[in-house]
Parts: sequence; C-alpha cells; structure tokens
Amino acid sequence: MSRLKKLFDEPEQEYQSFHPGELWLDDQGNHINAHGGGILYYQGKYYWFGEHKSANTSQALVGVRCYSSGDLYHWKNEGVALPVDENNKLSPIAKGCTIERPKVIYNAVTEQFVMYFHLELKGQGYRAAQVGIAVSDDVKGPYKFVKSLRPNAGIWPVNMNQDQRTSSLTADDFKEWWTPEWRAAIVDGLFVRRDFEGGQMSRDMTLFVDDDGKAYHIYSSEDNLTIHIAELTNDYLNYTGKYVRLFPGGHNEAPALFKKEGKYYLITSGCTGWAPNAARSAVASSIWGAWETLGNPCRGEGAELTFSSQSTCVFPVYGEKKSFVFMADRWNPKNHLDGRYVWLPISFENGKPIIKWAKEWDKYVFD
Ligand code: DGJ
Repeated sequence: MSRLKKLFDEPEQEYQSFHPGELWLDDQGNHINAHGGGILYYQGKYYWFGEHKSANTSQALVGVRCYSSGDLYHWKNEGVALPVDENNKLSPIAKGCTIERPKVIYNAVTEQFVMYFHLELKGQGYRAAQVGIAVSDDVKGPYKFVKSLRPNAGIWPVNMNQDQRTSSLTADDFKEWWTPEWRAAIVDGLFVRRDFEGGQMSRDMTLFVDDDGKAYHIYSSEDNLTIHIAELTNDYLNYTGKYVRLFPGGHNEAPALFKKEGKYYLITSGCTGWAPNAARSAVASSIWGAWETLGNPCRGEGAELTFSSQSTCVFPVYGEKKSFVFMADRWNPKNHLDGRYVWLPISFENGKPIIKWAKEWDKYVFD
C-alpha cells in the first residue's frame, strides 16, 4: 500500500465534489497518477490521460496512464495506455526518457485514437524538444508508438515575412541573451531560422479539434519563447505545413486551448520550471489569429501564482462546449507522485475567461 493511500481510512472514496489541490483517490484507493494530463470525452465517458510519475524522478519509467469516469469525480484506473519501451534502449520512448503532457483525440474518419506528447530523449535533458505520436483502436490503449519528430522541418510559418525569412542574422551573432537586440531578433524569427531544417522545437503542448474536425497541435517552440499552432492532416498523424507563431518572445508554456461560441481562448503560463507563476489568457476569432491578450484569468487570493498550479487542459463538461473546466497541475518536484490536481470552473466576465479559487465545488455551478 502506498504512503499516500495510508492517509485515507476509506480505500473507496465517495466524492460528491471537486477538492482542488487535495489528494484524489482512484477506484483502487491510490492518488491519481496522470500529471500534465488531458481529457477526452468519448461515448458518454471521460478519459483522463496523463504522465505516470515516479516519486524521485520526472523521467518516464512507466509511460502514459489512463483513467475513465462517468461523473468526473470518480476515476477508474484503466492502466498504462502507452508503455515506455523497456527492451530497446535505442527506442525514442526507452524507459528513462521524458514524456510530458500527453493528449488524446479521436479521429472519426480513421476511427483511431491519436495521442501526442512532449518527448525528450533519454539522457539528453530537454534538448531534443520533440513531439511523439502514438495510435490505438481502443481508447484505453495500448497505444502504439508511431514516430517522434520536430514539426514543420523546411517550412516557414505563415506569419513570418520575407525579410524575416531571409535575414542573415544567426543565433551565433548573439553572445548574450535577453538584451533588447536579442529580443528583437527573436521576434523576427531568429530561432525559427536556426531550426528551419531540422524542424521547430516542440515542448509543452496540447491538441485541439475544431467543429469541422480539423485538429491542431499547439506547442511551446523556439526555446519556449514562442507558441506555435500547427494544423494536422485529416488523419491527425502528420502536419499540413500550415502553422503560425503566437506571441513571439512572450515566453509561454502549458498551453490549453478551447472554443466557446465561435471564439477561441488560450490559457498559458510563464516559464519558471516546476514553480508556479501567473497564468495568461488570450482570445481570437480565428485560430490563426489575430490573438488578443486578455491578461491573467485568475481572480482572488493566490491568483498571481495560478493557485500554485500550472495549466494543462481546458475541457468541456458533458462534451457540450458550453461549460468548461480548467485543469492544472500543482507540481511537487520533491516527490512527483504527490503532484496535485487543481480543477476549477471557468466563468466569463465581459468576454474574458475567469478562474476563481474554490476549496470545494461541484458540477451544479454549471446549471
Ligand atoms: C514546465 C513545464 O510546463 C513542465 O511540463 C515541465 O516540463 C517542467 N517545466 C520541467 O521543469
């Protein structure tokens, strides 16, 4: 029995509400282990995919875990959806690699579930900055690893102009980072040019499927300085080559994108490792922009640190796209297993998404 489990007398916890930041026990009485996760609503059930973390390391020793729920309060452990490769040390997903922020979407045409995740190769820190792609015919898996790559090799973003594409300035021209000249060069696409041939860096990420079935990969690129939104092919397994840069030099991580009444909303964090910082939000009428920044969506005590958490996903309740839950991680780098989940309802004020702290809340807030 795990240490966390012992904290509760009752192995089967009956939940009638959400308790942000507290232990959250699954059907077996263990704290849910699905960090940096995302929710897929499929055939009347919610599926929560997330990083299976181990206590002393954030490296992937197990893989991506899946839980299912009919009511969002009680979660059944469905096992490991995508296991790390324990046999082949040369596999991109070899045990000990880093797998973060997995998200799963369903492709109604191919009838396949498609998982994207941030992948860092074993022993290489955060240098690889790749996206991993896996597929399954069954929502719970097992998912089969397809490939990992850096997106959009050899392709320019649609919103980089000719001068920016052909500028002769290179990253080597800047001995010092964070100077005004360096910042201006970043905005002008210094790192897009640097990574043009090998593909753009892809770290913190989410997926979004629009009403017309088109899917998009949204990721922190350019050394986490700029968000990219890239369109996927109809089978969701490749990039069409159409992509835009968002907030160049804005230093955004942890993107979560959702759509309400024809408007696209993006929530992100700043970049401070495992430590929390203030969330940011933005709105657009088209996913390609223009994106207008809306500031910190959090309100009340703890708002300046996103209630000690970092966004990972915003998902619609009952799949209806009217009421949305903000899903965030309260990381614990001293014991990754004990990372907590902060789920809060999103409300709207003057066209802006608003997230208020609640020690406890239930789904009736959406009625
Ligand atoms: C912040 C990211 O959002 C997390 O997913 C993780 O990569 C940490 N940084 C690592 O420090």
